[in-house]
Amino acid sequence: MSTRSVVIEVKNLYKEINGRVILKNVSFEVYEGEIFTIIGGSGSGKTSITKIIVGLWKPTRGLVRVFGKEVDKLTRDELDELRKKIGYVFQEGALFDSYKVWENVVFYYLEHTNMPVEKLRKLALEKLKMVNLDEKVMDLYPSDLSGGMRKRVAIARAIATEPKLVIYDEPTSGLDPITSRVIDRLILTLRDRTRSTALVVTHDMISAFTISDRVMVIKQGEIIAIGPPHEVMENPHPYIQAFVGDLKECLKPKAYAPS
Ligand SMILES: Nc1ncnc2c1ncn2[C@@H]1O[C@H](COP(=O)(O)OP(=O)(O)OP(=O)(O)O)[C@@H](O)[C@H]1O
Ligand SMILES: [Mg+2]
Repeated sequence: MSTRSVVIEVKNLYKEINGRVILKNVSFEVYEGEIFTIIGGSGSGKTSITKIIVGLWKPTRGLVRVFGKEVDKLTRDELDELRKKIGYVFQEGALFDSYKVWENVVFYYLEHTNMPVEKLRKLALEKLKMVNLDEKVMDLYPSDLSGGMRKRVAIARAIATEPKLVIYDEPTSGLDPITSRVIDRLILTLRDRTRSTALVVTHDMISAFTISDRVMVIKQGEIIAIGPPHEVMENPHPYIQAFVGDLKECLKPKAYAPS
């Protein structure tokens, strides 16, 4: 039996929008310190789950607890307090184009505190270094950066408040395979260095099966499987095999055939 504490608890969650059920009886737990990844096709409900977890959307039915708090029962102030403990890397990166990189990274502090600029720049640089960027990018604008660098800035911003839970929505989408692996390693390193928990949403199978402690497969709002990657990979469900088929082929040892 695991004695690790539960960071996210979702129980019998339903979400209905405009009379359409987009999440159906979803239940899962994320434990402290793990990397938990949600896999599923476009429109399967992955982002919707994250929106409910951070309190941007209310569940139609069911229980959602984060750090022991029932998210949809919180007051505005309590929700702000909870969100401080959660870093959210949005699906589209969502950097502010008219703000410099350093301002993007410490945006929370610019909005909520009166910390002096020098201190904020120092903090921004510290966070940028954690994602392997340096002072050269501080005064650039998001449009001056490559896609991979923008993702890293978005991650630096998400970790700026030292959150104990980081949610990554499609952290490798739109990136080339090499840059994607860099982001994967970064997610792992950050989890280890900051002793935090990560909830990752992806349809990048290499990413899902290399960085995750557990994965959850969702299809049209319903969970199909949850478990360690190697177990889920062997699940014969055709939807799962459609996802992991190519990956399994890649992982097979290839016989060396000299010509
Ligand atoms: N604001 C909204 N209003 C109405 N329907 C929505 C809204 N947002 C999402 N949906 C619907 O809910 C379903 C789940 O969407 P969601 O964004 O959670 O999928 P996803 O798994 O994140 O997909 P993707 O991989 O494309 O990002 C989809 O059918 C989508 O059309
Ligand atoms: Mg999405």
